Amino acid sequence: VQTDVPALKDATEVPLGVAVGPQDLTGRPAELLLRHFDQVTPENAMKPVTVQPAEGEFDFGPMDEVLDFAAEHGLTVHGHTLVWHRSTPEWFFQAPDGRPLTGSPEDRSLVLDRLRAHTRAVADHLAERYGDANPVRSWDVVNEALDPEEADGLRHSRWYEVLGPDYVAEAFRVAREELGPDAVLYLNDYDTDAPDRRRGLVRLVMDLQAAGAPVDAVGHQMHVDLDTDVDRVATTLDAVAALGLRQAVTELDVAISGRDEQLDSTPPDRLEAQRGQVQELASAFAARDLAFVGVWGLYDTRSWLRAWPQERPFEAPLLFDDELQAKPAFQGFLDGI
Ligand code: XIL
Repeated sequence: VQTDVPALKDATEVPLGVAVGPQDLTGRPAELLLRHFDQVTPENAMKPVTVQPAEGEFDFGPMDEVLDFAAEHGLTVHGHTLVWHRSTPEWFFQAPDGRPLTGSPEDRSLVLDRLRAHTRAVADHLAERYGDANPVRSWDVVNEALDPEEADGLRHSRWYEVLGPDYVAEAFRVAREELGPDAVLYLNDYDTDAPDRRRGLVRLVMDLQAAGAPVDAVGHQMHVDLDTDVDRVATTLDAVAALGLRQAVTELDVAISGRDEQLDSTPPDRLEAQRGQVQELASAFAARDLAFVGVWGLYDTRSWLRAWPQERPFEAPLLFDDELQAKPAFQGFLDGI
């Protein structure tokens, strides 16, 4: 990999993270990772659907690959995730006979027991495998709980339907009990710069604090684009700081195409605009006290946006290009952070 560009992690005090999978842990991707980053988030390897695809059947294989690499190289790990409607396996909300669970007291306790059993199994596995050298320091306990379209501001997912609005607080209690006092527990969400989502986030955090739920930190996914207003991002970071919580940027990427736009190349002027946008964002991050700044993928080929919301082969939202070369956005990040 390029050694003529500075190592990002040496350019700032803020720990820098990156989402990775087992395919990033050898060869040039691994070199790039170790040169520039201090921390990893397993992109999919710790999601419940990966770890416990059927009740009581655990697959720690992919997670072990990522965490062994982290432990071996002295990287910390941000755990992702415990409660997320999109990565909860279907069995979680089904009775043993296949009946969909309801909000009855019995069904409620079944789901809470399952969440506890899942979390405990992961914690036990980490303790057995790494002991005091467990690289996982923090966790996205609840991911994407907000929905400003709902009167109570909460997404009415299966978690909500079965457990009720208190499910967020319950999840944090379970996480604290099973993951221990030192785990930094995050509420993670997207588009937190949007005023309605910012208001919902502040309200949810205040409710959690009033309920005595052990939430330590807020994660801002930061899947943004060239039109994102960085002043709004800054306003949200300040609003969360005022709540007395720690916070991090957990999943940064800066899309160069619109949601419904299909690029047929990667236009150089967009990459230049991206440099400016990334620089502005990085300086907003640097001006605040963040626990870490994480990007959602090592290099463009590895971005989830290549496949979302449809196939987009020319989307290029990360700091390194398809050849793992530093992009203008890399320079922007370096200049801003
Ligand atoms: C994405 C992964 O990057 C994809 O590989 C997977 O197919 C779907 O999930 N918000 C999150 C992440 O919290 O878990 C998502 O990751 C991206 C959006």
